Amino acid sequence: EDHGGHLPTGLKGLDEALCGGIPFGVLTELVGPPGIGKTQLCMKLSLLASLPTTYGGLNGHVIYIDVESKFSSKRMIEIGVQSFPDIFNMKGVVQEMAGRILVLRPTTLSKFTESLQQIKLSLLQRPVKLIVIDSIAAIMSGDFAQGASRQNLLGWHVSFIKSLAESSRIPIVVTNQVRSQTREEGSQYSFQAQRTDDLSGYDSHLVAALGINWAHSVTIRLVLEAKSGQRFIKLAKSPLSPPFAFPFIITSAGISL
Ligand code: GTP
Repeated sequence: EDHGGHLPTGLKGLDEALCGGIPFGVLTELVGPPGIGKTQLCMKLSLLASLPTTYGGLNGHVIYIDVESKFSSKRMIEIGVQSFPDIFNMKGVVQEMAGRILVLRPTTLSKFTESLQQIKLSLLQRPVKLIVIDSIAAIMSGDFAQGASRQNLLGWHVSFIKSLAESSRIPIVVTNQVRSQTREEGSQYSFQAQRTDDLSGYDSHLVAALGINWAHSVTIRLVLEAKSGQRFIKLAKSPLSPPFAFPFIITSAGISL
């Protein structure tokens, strides 16, 4: 499934394990509890996709589906100024970068479907190098779907997103929320025992919410988690590398090692 390109994350160990970064043409899932840093990582990836190649970027455009209004261009620019002061202090760069990120904010499942159609159109109009969906869990939540037959709809959307990645050869990064969960809590679910590698990093709640089809559709799964006050990023699923984890921090410059 190598479509011949990667979006570097700027996190050295992770880029090495992924042979260059987030791969083009497949789905990469960021899983973790609320507040762990999934959105912060998505903003950093957006920045890297739009930065000139001389600064390690892809010199492209980004389509960002921001379901819970968590994307902040102010914060993204702060990350840029702190991480790449040379280029961000140049005249016009901030406007140029901001103009490269198309943020879509669907409020219902049918608007999300429209957003996906709009992406197809946008791909013809600009050199998109990253699509972000933050978050799929929010899209499939009860409020959003408003009683629609969720599993059926999810199946359709998952196929659409996957084929979009393949046909456009663009990396698609999707966030997914898990509850913080204690061991005792988890053990009450009987299918906990049936876990395969494909479900690594999921709790039973997430499997129940999104279904096994989703888990199979994802090529790379990165799990963000906190242990004893330290944040970790774990490569839980990858065709290229065995599972491994390393610590990260979030500063004014965004996510770093
Ligand atoms: P959910 O969307 O609720 O699932 O969370 P998330 O995983 O997307 O979390 P998010 O990326 O929003 O991370 C929030 C965390 O990032 C906060 O708890 C802060 O620790 C950190 N953070 C957010 N903004 C800043 C900032 O401007 N400066 C610094 N230093 N840290 C920040």
